[in-house]
Amino acid sequence: MNYPFWEIPYLGSGWVIGIIAIFHVMISQFAVGGGLYLPMAERKAMRMGDKQMGAEWLKQLASHSKFFLILTAVFGTVSGVGIWFAIGLTHPEATSTLIHNFVFGWAMEWVFFIVELTTIAVYYYTWGRIDPKLHLKVGWVYAGASVFTLIIINGILSFMLTPGDTWIGVAGNGQEAGKFWNAFFNPTYWPSLFLRTCVSISLAGVWALITASRIDGDKHPALKESKVKWSVQWLVPSFVAMPFLMIWYYMMVPASQQALLTLGIDTINAGTFSAVTRMALVIIVTSATIVGVAYYLAYRNPLEFNLSHALSILLLALIATGAGEYSREMLRKPFVIGRWMYSNGVRVNNVAHLNDTGYLPNSEWIWNGSASSYSHGEAIFRGECGSCHTLAGYRSLNALLAGRDRANIANFITMLHEHMSDSPYRRFMPPMVGTKQDVDDLADYLNAQVNPPPPAAPKPLLTAHK
Ligand code: HEC
Repeated sequence: MNYPFWEIPYLGSGWVIGIIAIFHVMISQFAVGGGLYLPMAERKAMRMGDKQMGAEWLKQLASHSKFFLILTAVFGTVSGVGIWFAIGLTHPEATSTLIHNFVFGWAMEWVFFIVELTTIAVYYYTWGRIDPKLHLKVGWVYAGASVFTLIIINGILSFMLTPGDTWIGVAGNGQEAGKFWNAFFNPTYWPSLFLRTCVSISLAGVWALITASRIDGDKHPALKESKVKWSVQWLVPSFVAMPFLMIWYYMMVPASQQALLTLGIDTINAGTFSAVTRMALVIIVTSATIVGVAYYLAYRNPLEFNLSHALSILLLALIATGAGEYSREMLRKPFVIGRWMYSNGVRVNNVAHLNDTGYLPNSEWIWNGSASSYSHGEAIFRGECGSCHTLAGYRSLNALLAGRDRANIANFITMLHEHMSDSPYRRFMPPMVGTKQDVDDLADYLNAQVNPPPPAAPKPLLTAHK
């Protein structure tokens, strides 16, 4: 709340992160799985009894590695930088916490990232130019570096959901960095790592099917059949393990967060299923469809397998990834860093202070007093509610508050402010912090949005313009 608010009308800034992140996860997890796929496929080709077939495999693999290089090194890198911009603007306070806590984590991440980028370039440009055994070794270095990028980023991502008791115990007293490893190997670290590894391996198969689908089945039937079938096998292990890993992951999440799975929080489709539950169902249904489609269209009929089949599998994988990232995000509500910082940047241990002294005096950046172009109410709305709600688009407050009058809106905000332990909103909304005056100012502002005053009688024409 000490930073300016980044307003994205209708969509909400959270979705900017979301959209970039879904693409980034698709590509970067492919970089991990594909990192294993390339040297394993190369080794398989080198060991083939049928030398002719081995050579065809290698040729096809070289073209796959070009696609791989472009996708991961260009789109993976650009989307990764994009995430930094988006989180820095949307959650500056949380981004700062992540940087301060994990300085060396990030440093290691970027070292591996540089190794990854260098080796994939070397790998691609040295096909047929260096000793095949050395080439394969370059592939293994790439694979190792990319697995390490996952091992590190996973510590930071899972920390945001479950920072762990030890870290929470020292948070805010300046000793946080001393608990680096506790924060890193937090309760959801292992299930999350295995889940993401599984996803990475299946994404390697999904993307390999794209290039395999383009092999001309009339000219190279044996190559196409063996390549398609081998790639489909990369989908299998994760679909067997995924349900168990998801249960394990869920068991490591605090009970208060687990409750989000069974709570009917979506008022638009009020029902017993919460958004998280529905997303979990989407993951299961799309994953099962991927297996079905891959088995019947690819494994059973490899020669007929074409680009549009492969793209439909990719699209399903994109939906499953999106649903997965969305659920992880929802499961974390109302926090951006579990139990420590709410999504709007308010620290849990700062709530009492803000209630005593007021929200705006503590927010120099969103509120510069009388010089500001916002009313008090609007500034509070932007700072406290804007990270999750828009006025008229995603999770629209105009829609959610429709039909309520000023008194009713004020009651609702007071309820958010009191944050009683039995309030159903506690599960997914932070307390509204500030003084009684802040509550009133926010109610005035929201009331003016939801119940706009009727248009006044036409004013006399202005005689002069500024
Ligand atoms: C951590 C994210 C988050 C923040 C911050 C947040 N909300 Fe919400 N809010 C939600 C979610 C999630 C829902 C449920 C959305 C739905 O039902 O579609 C919700 C629902 C609501 C509803 C509808 C409740 C109902 O019973 O129908 C209102 C009104 C609301 N929020 C007001 C606010 C106000 C005012 C603020 C700022 C003081 C705020 N919210 C801050 C996440 C948040």
